[in-house]
Amino acid sequence: MSYPYQIGSLSEYHEAYRKSIEDPEAFWAGVASNFHWRKKWDRVLSWNFKEPNVEWFAGGKLNITENCLDRHLEKLGDKPAIIWEPNNPEERTRVVTYERLHKRVCQFAQVLRNNGVKKGDRVCIYMGMVPELAYAVLGCARIGAVHSVIFGGFSAQSIADRLEDAKAEFIVTCDGAYRGGKDIPLKSIIDDALIGNKLVKKVIVYTRTRIPVSMIKGRDVWWEDEMLKVTDTLPVEGFGEAEVMDAEDPLFILYTSGSTGKPKGVVHSSGGYMIWTNYTFVNAFQYKPGQVHFCTADIGWITGHSYILYGPLSAGATSIMFEGIPTWPDAGRFWDVIDKYKVNIFYTAPTAIRSLMSFGLDPLKGKDLSSLQVLGTVGEPINEEAWHWYDEHIGKKNCPVVDTWWQTETGGLMITNLAGITPAKPSWATLPMPGVQPVLVDDKGEEVTEKDADGFYKGNLCIKAPWPGIIRTTYGDHERCRTNYFATYDNLYFTGDGALKDDNGFFRITGRVDDVLNVSGHRIGTAEVENAINMHASVIESAVVGFPHDIKGQGIYAYVIVSGLRGDEAGTRQDIIQTVSRIIGPIAKPDKIQFVTGLPKTRSGKIMRRILRKIAEGETANLGDTSTLLDPAVVDELKNGKL
Ligand code: WTA
Repeated sequence: MSYPYQIGSLSEYHEAYRKSIEDPEAFWAGVASNFHWRKKWDRVLSWNFKEPNVEWFAGGKLNITENCLDRHLEKLGDKPAIIWEPNNPEERTRVVTYERLHKRVCQFAQVLRNNGVKKGDRVCIYMGMVPELAYAVLGCARIGAVHSVIFGGFSAQSIADRLEDAKAEFIVTCDGAYRGGKDIPLKSIIDDALIGNKLVKKVIVYTRTRIPVSMIKGRDVWWEDEMLKVTDTLPVEGFGEAEVMDAEDPLFILYTSGSTGKPKGVVHSSGGYMIWTNYTFVNAFQYKPGQVHFCTADIGWITGHSYILYGPLSAGATSIMFEGIPTWPDAGRFWDVIDKYKVNIFYTAPTAIRSLMSFGLDPLKGKDLSSLQVLGTVGEPINEEAWHWYDEHIGKKNCPVVDTWWQTETGGLMITNLAGITPAKPSWATLPMPGVQPVLVDDKGEEVTEKDADGFYKGNLCIKAPWPGIIRTTYGDHERCRTNYFATYDNLYFTGDGALKDDNGFFRITGRVDDVLNVSGHRIGTAEVENAINMHASVIESAVVGFPHDIKGQGIYAYVIVSGLRGDEAGTRQDIIQTVSRIIGPIAKPDKIQFVTGLPKTRSGKIMRRILRKIAEGETANLGDTSTLLDPAVVDELKNGKL
């Protein structure tokens, strides 16, 4: 594989950036011409941010799996596409070559067809990190079914909500999953999620842990049995053949949290998303053919979609898929994996770095990390201390560190340095990718043109024009897409993040400015957590904010009014945590719950979250104006009871 659009120097970056802004159509047509299209597009780009309506490569026909698999077969057929590292290091590694991956994807595509899945149908995937998860995702893409992967840490209730929202009729799952020392009973969670569900017709179950499961006649089938029915010699017409998709046909839905209501289904397209994940992968990480790429994310999140699967595979890369967690059996696990497979590019989250830092340098002893060439971080702001530790102890000051800022909605990286090509600056994401036009605006939507006291421009981060990987809609509710992202400021995509910009045009992301928390790099809406807490029978009202947490970045702080305690405070606290875990999932459990008798409300009944945030952060002196509060006395109670 060669990548003629790979940027090779700082001046090439500036040149590419300029061209991408001056003539985006010519620029992206140039990039897209390196891919396999069944039919060329009629028009590169048409867009407005009013409705919004964005179309990239309209009229173009393709299948993303032909670009990720078929086109590599001749030259890379026997090269590893996926190297799978099991949870238990004693278990056998699985190396899936491009040829094997192609075969398995075609087979599973046929399994889906045999089970009644058609183009456009939504297939929910709830599996652990096993190669079969990749076969399931790509098998859907092969036949034009829209996959919706749900992270294994979400509860039955969360799955039920997503199934209903996506109107999914098909599920692919595992009997169970291994994660560190825990076994997660995935199928049984799916069974709970399906109580009362009338839409789901088929559940395909892959055997991973051999825990007992209950299989419902007519609905549940075993992956292994279904695969046996389709061999590559089976003379089924169209076997393994890829469905021809429009560039704008949806590829997948991925649910993510916003500041209000339930999680929304972010929809990505087939053509633009492919170009964007590939282009950003090849450029930010400076991927060179033959290198081994290890992204530690779970495929249940966008990072796994874009940088374990679609980006690397479309580039013919070798991508590591890791089933386990960084601290099991011990805190040296990532370093073992890097050593074992001679990983060249390592991409993880600041939370993981901070957590591994806390174990000191012992877990690094005897681990050969000399294969590493590029390091990356994603998901949350990285503090300077963690950045330097990563650079020094993992990269041995010999690997560029890319700090990649992006979102589920952006499909791929947006603001990041390019490894070894553009300069790095600790805790700064630095410069935009070609095609990305960031702008900082004040609360009225005016571009910030004055520097603050520290010499930085500071504002709400927006993007002026579409890039190929931009969100197309929120599933089933286009208006929600408009109000969430395009209505805050005229003609701008609003990210929900605040940022600083320096004189070099470098950006530093400071965190969310809306009511979205970033806990260990996981996005969680405060409203979602409040709704879950309020489900508890003794809770009258609650308000949730974030607070700085050494490892997780942010922790969850809940102020809760209860009508009567069951037993002691500690018991009720546990009950509430249990409720949140059941309604959303363990990732949303509050770290701190403070029982209060009132919340700081304005006369119009609005909760003043600013005050709650400050108290949770430990700031008690400088709470700002509290005179508009209905009952200013409540503030003292909150301060005195702070946990
Ligand atoms: C945050 C993850 C600072 C940000 C890919 C964004 C970051 C949210 C960075 C999206 C970074 C992501 N520096 N903050 N390098 N990367 N974020 O949708 O607040 O799970 O809005 O996508 O994570 O989270 P999401």
